[in-house]
Amino acid sequence: MTILVTGGAGYIGSHTCVELLAAGYDIIVADNFSNSNPESLKRVAELTGKLFTISKVDLQNRQQVEKLFSSNKIDAVIHFAAYKAVGESVEFPLKYYQNNLAGTMVLLETMEKFHVKKFVFSSSATVYGATNHMPITEDEQIGSTNPYGRTKEMIEDMLQDIYQADPSWSIAILRYFNPVGAHKSGRIGEDPNGIPNNLLPYLSQVAIGRRDVLTIHGNDYQTKDGTGVRDYIHVVDLANGHIKALEKIQKTPFISAYNLGTGVGISVLEMVRAFEQASGKTIPFHIGNRRPGDVAICYADPAKARAELEWTATKSISEMCEDTWRWQLQNPEGYITEKVSIEASGA
Ligand code: WQD
Repeated sequence: MTILVTGGAGYIGSHTCVELLAAGYDIIVADNFSNSNPESLKRVAELTGKLFTISKVDLQNRQQVEKLFSSNKIDAVIHFAAYKAVGESVEFPLKYYQNNLAGTMVLLETMEKFHVKKFVFSSSATVYGATNHMPITEDEQIGSTNPYGRTKEMIEDMLQDIYQADPSWSIAILRYFNPVGAHKSGRIGEDPNGIPNNLLPYLSQVAIGRRDVLTIHGNDYQTKDGTGVRDYIHVVDLANGHIKALEKIQKTPFISAYNLGTGVGISVLEMVRAFEQASGKTIPFHIGNRRPGDVAICYADPAKARAELEWTATKSISEMCEDTWRWQLQNPEGYITEKVSIEASGA
């Protein structure tokens, strides 16, 4: 089976490519490298010993996307490619709507044209917005509070409408909680551009000396220690959730959403302590103001994914921190700073 992986050079995409190749799938990676480095794919090939097609493609370019499908026999698609920074989406909403929505629409229209109707969509727990019902189940009310989350919500609605119009599609919508960690080799990992928005990459950059101090965004929430509580999930567990979703979409037409989380809420302070244990470093921090848009608590009820995908997260907070640290130690500046160009290798 050949799987098209859009955004496969990214953090979650590259980890999923490793698991796909290990599971015996052939893959084609389509990426425009606007927020990723081709070096990650070189390391995917190194780690797996497998060769695969890489195409530099902007999903908004219909001609490029159609060439992918006309030149390859694609059996299913895993769609990661999207902008995903919440704060940036608030500042530049049109950039997010254009890229995330238009790119996905071209992809879906092309899939329809080439009769490829097996689809795994990278969604996010952000679609739930602010809710007090914990743990969060898939039938929790949807209500994004930022443009990034709204693009995910709109695409989910698009997929529901597509399925209503043509129930021969098989669609798995995966709502990620907080992806962290790295492949145990330390060869691939999270490589954010500029100042990290997310906790773990910021923590590891403080530990390696790239950042002086961690600002904890508020310690006056109604939580176990006043700091924000999240459901951190190891990126390799997350990647394996995609393998399970891929198995399910091969069996029968359907559409369904699944929370991919551990079901355990961890506070910022607990994560800081865990990272200090894993790295042997003391993490200097100070308490700052709450970050606009943050919710106090967010963690998953992963029972539906366990029951229907036969998937469950297995890796501990310690492993998440140890694997993050190993990646950071081996790659103090992330992937090579200058992006090596990779010409479209032809589809
Ligand atoms: C986690 C906790 C912060 C940084 C985001 C996106 C979500 C998804 C995952 C795409 C919070 C605190 C953080 C820092 C801190 N991405 N924090 N100091 O906001 O839960 O989710 O990433 O799908 O869409 O919203 O993750 O890592 O930014 O924050 O205190 O420097 O760490 O306040 O409590 P978040 P995060």
